[in-house]
Amino acid sequence: MEAVREIRMSRRYLWLPVDERAPKQTVTISQGDTAIRQFEIRMADGEPEYWVFTDLEAWTGQTVTIAAERGDERTLARIAQRDNLPGGEETYREVHRPGFHFSSRRGWLNDPNGLLYHKGEYHLFYQHNPYGWEWGNMHWGHAVSRDLVHWKERGIALYPDESGTMWSGSGVVDLMNTSGFQLGEEPPLVLIYTTAGDTSPQSKGKPFTQCLAYSLDGGRTWSKYGGNPVIPEIAPQNRDPKVVWDDAARRWLMALYTEQDTFALWASPDLKKWESVGTVVMPGCAECPDMFEVPVEGRSGGRKWVFWSATRGAYLVGRLEEGCFVPESEMRYSLADGAHGYAAQTWSGIPQEDGRCIQIAWFNLQVPGMPFNGFMTFPCELTLRSTKEGLSLFFNPVREIASLREKRHAWRSIVLRDEVVPIAVAGELLDLEAAFEIGSSKEIAIHVHGVSVTYDVSRNVLSCNGVAQPLSPEEGRVKLRLLVDRTSIEIFGNDGAAYMPIGVIREQADIGLDIFARGGEAVLTSLVIHELRDIWG
Ligand code: FRU
Repeated sequence: MEAVREIRMSRRYLWLPVDERAPKQTVTISQGDTAIRQFEIRMADGEPEYWVFTDLEAWTGQTVTIAAERGDERTLARIAQRDNLPGGEETYREVHRPGFHFSSRRGWLNDPNGLLYHKGEYHLFYQHNPYGWEWGNMHWGHAVSRDLVHWKERGIALYPDESGTMWSGSGVVDLMNTSGFQLGEEPPLVLIYTTAGDTSPQSKGKPFTQCLAYSLDGGRTWSKYGGNPVIPEIAPQNRDPKVVWDDAARRWLMALYTEQDTFALWASPDLKKWESVGTVVMPGCAECPDMFEVPVEGRSGGRKWVFWSATRGAYLVGRLEEGCFVPESEMRYSLADGAHGYAAQTWSGIPQEDGRCIQIAWFNLQVPGMPFNGFMTFPCELTLRSTKEGLSLFFNPVREIASLREKRHAWRSIVLRDEVVPIAVAGELLDLEAAFEIGSSKEIAIHVHGVSVTYDVSRNVLSCNGVAQPLSPEEGRVKLRLLVDRTSIEIFGNDGAAYMPIGVIREQADIGLDIFARGGEAVLTSLVIHELRDIWG
């Protein structure tokens, strides 16, 4: 039997108690006959593990009805209205809170969505369950940054509706108002997302379709388009539309995951009417496609298009021709098997004078015992360089990381011979750059905060926590850059030729750091370590 409680809203937020061991139940919050929120939640019967919240500011002064499926009056009695967010001073200071990677203050996070840059602000939307630690109730969370490093969370951008929960998608700045959404001076910001039908009680029996939402106030508020969906179901669970502007064809191009290893390409003059223009097949790959133009470094210069899939960052290098993507390369993987980092997406709308291709991914690591789960990789700048295998993607952390640098430590020319060289740096958050002459050694290793990053000289393999990736020395030298955070180490080999995001949950705080070489002699020609500031201050 359902239990019901009425609350007259005089404060902005409704706090709900969560206990991850409690069974899931559906809670519906209505105003009159209209359901304004509906979600599944593990509501605490006793002392909550933590509180989650929903913003009901729009209903201030009105009476809302909360109906809980499992019908426990005492549980409902715990729900409270407040002016502030739960967690207080503790939020962003939890033991497993990443210090310089974006994570949500509350709840689950997966794919980055809708990445767009507009007027000095990088918008980051993300797959989000605001009501618990597990995947579910997909909303689009929203955060904004002016430097890709410090993030401010905004409210939810997209709530689930009767068509479905809000699955992954992309965002564009419609500078020429092709959509006709514009009313004043501000160009419309447009989100293109999947409504996942049949994933909530509200959307029983509905299909997966592609829809639009737009903002006319630079991303402060969002409205769903009245003409949704803009693409009906073309295959069961088709999803993850990524839209880019094709300047030569003067129209928008969308990559959409359909089924198995197939991505459909659709084109549109106005984001509303779409026609099918082709497909891209990537064996073994699925979900969250991306298409982006990447600067080519070196003599040839210019830019090339890349088609990308969520699975191990597999990609094809190619070109846009007659409004369609044409591959020119074999498929390559940017991530080793077992490395973290999934469903990466690049920012749209980066100004031409900047010209960078900037990407962020879901760091798909479970963070136990926290009121949040999941976080993002550190944003990377992507370039293409000529290698033995042809044009390959290189990954490097965005230069804005420099704003977090605090203390600098530097060493030169340390000879490494079968003994461990301790490095006395106490910081928990580090940006470490090491250059080695591999010499006659068989193996070089950096042991940082309880994790070993090893370079096997005889096999030319970089490895960490059981994940291995080839890396060739360059003229007898190997360079490693490590971004060390509380729950992750991102490893960049030889200026981004190898990129390995590795998640780590440490049982205990460990700030030990040493370097060694085995089986011969190597030289650590240079070691520079910057201690980094925590972005949450
Ligand atoms: C990838 C994915 C997407 C989907 C979303 C749902 O992680 O499965 O294909 O849109 O997550 O949260």
